[in-house]
Amino acid sequence: MTGIKIDGKEIAQHVKDRVKKAVEELKAQNINPCLATVLVGENPASAAYVRTKHKACEEVGIITKDHKLASNITQTELNETIDNLNKDTSVHGILVQLPLPDQLNEFTTTSKISPLKDVDGLTPYNVGLLAMKKAALVACTPLGVMEMFDYHNINLQGKNVVIINRSNLVGKPIYHLLLERNATVITCHSKTKNLEELCRLADIIITAVGDRTKFTLTPDMIKEGAIVIDVAISRNEEKLVGDTDFDQIIQKASFATPVPGGVGPLTVAMLLKNTITAASLNIQLGQ
Ligand SMILES: NC(=O)c1ccc[n+]([C@@H]2O[C@H](COP(=O)([O-])OP(=O)(O)OC[C@H]3O[C@@H](n4cnc5c(N)ncnc54)[C@H](OP(=O)(O)O)[C@@H]3O)[C@@H](O)[C@H]2O)c1
Repeated sequence: MTGIKIDGKEIAQHVKDRVKKAVEELKAQNINPCLATVLVGENPASAAYVRTKHKACEEVGIITKDHKLASNITQTELNETIDNLNKDTSVHGILVQLPLPDQLNEFTTTSKISPLKDVDGLTPYNVGLLAMKKAALVACTPLGVMEMFDYHNINLQGKNVVIINRSNLVGKPIYHLLLERNATVITCHSKTKNLEELCRLADIIITAVGDRTKFTLTPDMIKEGAIVIDVAISRNEEKLVGDTDFDQIIQKASFATPVPGGVGPLTVAMLLKNTITAASLNIQLGQ
């Protein structure tokens, strides 16, 4: 069989269209949704990600504020920048681009962001709410994966899902979101035994290792008709690749995502959606 390609760009455009409408509604109430980005240092990949996010904001009418900080900034100085953005009532969402230079601590930094402006869903408060099924702001990539399931009307109830990743950004939030939808979820990682066997039993595999020398998901590792979501992005001879080869896996899967053009565009679209959610939260709380 040949499965259906989950087209991240197409789904992202649907999300952006909804966000654009929401922006217009907020503007009609004199609220100008605004995302502040903080980029520390000159990592070219990080700078490119921030540019992509700004461009996407522009497309839907979200204002951006760009904060570029020197690579040798101290934790205290970075904390001050975040505190100022927390207090700035014209800013609704704050995004600190990761990774940070070695002298800065990611947990300390993300914990400083007001949970109401935490558009990356990484503060301990929002992570706790997610675990308790009460989250308003959830990490963008996991939200994007859920959007893909919804777009294709994929019912998750009772499905056996294997996630190959246990990071705070990807695997853990996806675990909670899937559990909320009554899926049976197994979270795998570098120490998991019998990973291939677990994959062969799964109705859905979400893979995010990002290093082909460590792990590649090949067609013999999935069951006929499985759904494969490839979150990973890595470079292979200057080409962007995921954990699996789309052209091969789609011969056996019922649905699969390509890399690039899969989860990536959805991650950016969900950041826009989270910024609107944050702007609405601010109105509800009269801030
Ligand atoms: N498309 C997007 O928008 C998007 C967004 C975020 C991330 N990503 C991509 O997703 C990938 C993961 O990102 P991340 O930040 O979560 O990275 P990470 O923290 O390095 O996570 C990698 C995960 O892979 C696991 N792993 C490593 N080797 C393995 C093996 N041989 N078998 C099974 N699991 C193994 C690790 O296990 P341990 O925990 O045991 O080390 C870890 O849980 C990267 O390629 C990143 O670029 C894409």
